[in-house]
Amino acid sequence: MPDWYSPLRRILFNLDPETAHRIALVAIGTLGRLHPLNQYMADAWRGTLPAHPVEAMGLHFPNPLGLAAGLDKDATAVDGLANLGFGFLELGTVTPLPQYGNPRPRMFRLTGAQALINRMGFNSAGLNRFLANLDRHCQQVRIGINIGKNATTPNAQAQRDYITGLRAVYTVADYVTVNISSPNTPGLRDLQERQALNQLLFSLKDEQAKLADCHGRYTPIAIKIAPDLDEEAIAQIADALLVHGVDGVVATNTTTTRPLDPIRYPESSQAGGLSGAPLAVLSQQVIAKLKSYIGNDLPIIGVGGITDAASAQAMLLAGASLIQVYTGLIYQGPRLIREILETLEQ
Ligand SMILES: Cc1cc2nc3c(=O)[nH]c(=O)nc-3n(C[C@H](O)[C@H](O)[C@H](O)COP(=O)(O)O)c2cc1C
Repeated sequence: MPDWYSPLRRILFNLDPETAHRIALVAIGTLGRLHPLNQYMADAWRGTLPAHPVEAMGLHFPNPLGLAAGLDKDATAVDGLANLGFGFLELGTVTPLPQYGNPRPRMFRLTGAQALINRMGFNSAGLNRFLANLDRHCQQVRIGINIGKNATTPNAQAQRDYITGLRAVYTVADYVTVNISSPNTPGLRDLQERQALNQLLFSLKDEQAKLADCHGRYTPIAIKIAPDLDEEAIAQIADALLVHGVDGVVATNTTTTRPLDPIRYPESSQAGGLSGAPLAVLSQQVIAKLKSYIGNDLPIIGVGGITDAASAQAMLLAGASLIQVYTGLIYQGPRLIREILETLEQ
């Protein structure tokens, strides 16, 4: 398979990261909408990837490797992304109302470390636009929808935003991820604390039961957690997930820590969440601890620092049933998907 991503990456990496991201997403989305080409790509690339079926959250996945949330926040490139061969796509984070997010610049490359820092702050076209975009996709692919709250919604009313999100996406998502772990919305991570978490999970499970009754289908709910949690916090979260019967857990979001040499990587002083290779060990540790509490009672979707087949395997070994990539894809391109799936087969 020719390495067509390297020259493309050279061009993209000459642009500022958010512009490069937008151009790449528009290109993937456009390719996915050109129907004969779309079919050709699906057959030529996706069709030759090894299958590796997995059952999790009561769903069948063709392979365990998904796209992590944040890359396609507004569901604009679903068919093109599906063609890359992912076993599932997690779209969003989508907020109830449109919001710009933090001022630019808000995404930074730490190239030698295969890492990014971002403080996007849930830039989102909002639920209405998201659903209209999603409605246009044709490819068969499992879809997780990651929901968040608007920045102007105080934590005391966060429940309202999550319930709005859950209701809106319930029938079009294969699973819904509740994001309470972005470091870029002030106070959001406080929703991981015992009392706030219990209240939120209670309302979400109650609403899920009503929606399941009304629509005659059960859409699983997963909670996305931060990597910056101590052992006691992980134990508390695991307990709450089990008590409320949550269907899955996505671990982890980006980290506010900086396990990097600040002299070699001056961009590491930027505020925001760090993703990519330096996050791998931290995410794996959180997953291993989480696994020791929840056992096989609910599946873990492992994400954080997967940049090659070895880090993907390590995430699965730590206890993940499904895995996701974001930053690794920016650095390695779609060949990372093939590399991981071909190694999984052995
Ligand atoms: C630019 C950027 C934007 C992100 N936006 C979101 C988001 O909207 N919602 C979310 O749950 N995670 C978001 N994430 C976190 C990723 O989904 C993932 O949890 C994290 O980057 C770790 O995985 P990675 O090391 O493979 O990138 C974002 C990450 C990046 C780099």
